[in-house]
Amino acid sequence: MQIILCDSAEEVGRRAADLVEARMRQGPAVLGLATGSSPASTYAELIRRHREEGLSFRDATAFTLDEYAGLPADHPQSYSSTIRREFVDSVDLPLARLHTPRGDAGDLVAEAVRYDAAIVDAGGVDVQLLGLGANGHIGFNEPTSSLRSRTRVKTLSSATRQANARFFEDDGEEVPKLCLTQGLGTIGESRQAVLVALGTTKASAVRAMVEGPVSAFCPGSVLQLHPKAVVVLDPEAAARLTLLEYYREAQALDDELS
Ligand code: GLP
Repeated sequence: MQIILCDSAEEVGRRAADLVEARMRQGPAVLGLATGSSPASTYAELIRRHREEGLSFRDATAFTLDEYAGLPADHPQSYSSTIRREFVDSVDLPLARLHTPRGDAGDLVAEAVRYDAAIVDAGGVDVQLLGLGANGHIGFNEPTSSLRSRTRVKTLSSATRQANARFFEDDGEEVPKLCLTQGLGTIGESRQAVLVALGTTKASAVRAMVEGPVSAFCPGSVLQLHPKAVVVLDPEAAARLTLLEYYREAQALDDELS
C-alpha cells in the first residue's frame, strides 16, 4: 500500500487525478468510478484537465462501483445519475461506454452476475477510484463482507443509510435498504486501486484499513492484499495513522524519483 499525504482536498484531487491521467496516457483505459463526496475533488481536477489541458476520455470505458436497489437509473439520487452529473457529463467519455449496475432490474441477482461478467469482458478495470465509508466500507461492501465476494445484492447498514440520508432530504427512511455493489474480490482484480479519504470522520476507518489487520470487519483493509493500492489522504483523514513519519519519508523519496 502506498500512502500519499496531502495538505488539502484539492491536493488529494490532483494526486488522484495524476494516477488516472498517467494510465490514460498509455492508451484506452477502463476506469472504475466511485460516487459519494470523497472523489469530488478528483473529478473536479479531471474535468479541469479535460477543459484546459485537452485530457480526453474519448477512448475510455467506465464502470461504476455500486447502485441503490429499486431506484431507476434516471432517479436524481441513483448513482447512475450522480456519476453523470458529477463527472461524466462534463467530459467526453461516450455514454455508451459508461456502465452502471441496473438498480431497477427485475432480477437483481442476475443483474449482479451480468455486471461482474461485463467488467471481465471489458478486460478488467485499469484504475479503480474508491472512497471509504466511516465504517470501513468500500463500494457498498459493509463490514463482514466476504473478502473474495463478487458483484452482488447487499443489505445497507443503518450507519450507511444514516450517512447517506443527506442525499435524501435528511430522511434515512428514504434511503433504499438494498443495493448492488462490486464485490471485494471484484475490486481486488483492478490493476490499480486509488482510494481517496477526506476529513476527521474517516480517520478511524483509515487507520483500520491501513494499519489494522486484514479483516472483513473493515472491508477497506482488503486493499492490503492488492498488488497496487494507493491511499490518498488529507491531514484530517490521516490524523490517526501511527507511521506518518515513515509515509512522509517514502513519499519524499518517491516524488524525488518520479
Ligand atoms: C458510499 C458509497 C461509497 C463511498 C462511501 C463514502 O455510501 N457507496 O462508494 O465511497 O460511501 O462516501 P463519501 O465519499 O460520501 O463519504
